[in-house]
Amino acid sequence: MDIRFEQVDFTYQPNTPFEQRALFDLNLKIKNGSYTAIVGHTGSGKSTLLQHLNALVKPTKGTVTIGDRTIVPETNNKNLKPIRKKVGIVFQFPEAQLFEETVAKDIAFGPKNFGVSTEDAEKLAAEMLDLVGLDGSYLERSPFELSGGQMRRVAIAGVLAMEPEVLVLDEPTAGLDPQGRKEMMEMFQRLHEVRGMTIVLVTHLMDDVANYADHVIVLEQGQIVKSGTPQDVFHDLEWLKEKQLGVPTAASFAEKLIAKGITFEQLPLTAETLAEDLIKGLKKAGEDL
Ligand SMILES: Nc1ncnc2c1ncn2[C@@H]1O[C@H](COP(=O)(O)OP(=O)(O)OP(=O)(O)O)[C@@H](O)[C@H]1O
Ligand SMILES: [Mg+2]
Repeated sequence: MDIRFEQVDFTYQPNTPFEQRALFDLNLKIKNGSYTAIVGHTGSGKSTLLQHLNALVKPTKGTVTIGDRTIVPETNNKNLKPIRKKVGIVFQFPEAQLFEETVAKDIAFGPKNFGVSTEDAEKLAAEMLDLVGLDGSYLERSPFELSGGQMRRVAIAGVLAMEPEVLVLDEPTAGLDPQGRKEMMEMFQRLHEVRGMTIVLVTHLMDDVANYADHVIVLEQGQIVKSGTPQDVFHDLEWLKEKQLGVPTAASFAEKLIAKGITFEQLPLTAETLAEDLIKGLKKAGEDL
């Protein structure tokens, strides 16, 4: 399922003294099966954009097409449920939304709300808990006695239990320790690779963009200022620095090597490609001796 924005504007509280325009003339496409990263400074409109992906908000102007559904400002709020099921959004700090007395009930809540039988919802809960890396012993525990990282996993399992085609993640690793962050990013990567899930990730970590995404959208004050592959977006280090977006660690290291006379066919963005390029260079230097 593709998602497409055509000339999308969004204004909070229009025609009031509190009117705040958040998105300006966005044109974009989230391709089925892609892994898209959305980056930009605080207040640039990332979370607002995400809420359009499953029609939680409707554009003030323009068109959002989600699979075979077209959302315009006049779209009726009825019958949006199927979209919410296909596009699952994990908001910032989702653990704040846990509320049931057991982990199993919390994860099963969404599917049951969508008409899945209690028995099947419980099966789904067990499966999804396993998927997020927690074993069955957690099912009957209270979510409120878990660690922050475990609560986050339970909240994500609740979104996964809806079996969405598109998984939207708003800074999913914020506040986690490095190990927890790595585990979680690898989990999303597995969902993408093994289950073919389309992933949309909001992050301020350029290493995560370089390591996982195949498409990047850069937002600035509600407008798209650049989009393309990670290579398209990151190759111009001067532009990145000017925009103060951060530079992937490997690219920053490569830049120092370039300053010392080492050349690369294209700027390496990940530790892996940097290592490969350096090995190639060393081998070639060996042959030339
Ligand atoms: N509920 C709201 N009412 C009015 N204005 C809002 C509301 N939510 C966001 N805004 C404004 O819309 C703009 C975009 O906000 P948004 O939350 O989408 O940015 P963001 O890129 O997600 O920021 P962050 O990185 O801090 O999460 C900002 O100017 C913000 O102040
Ligand atoms: Mg946000």
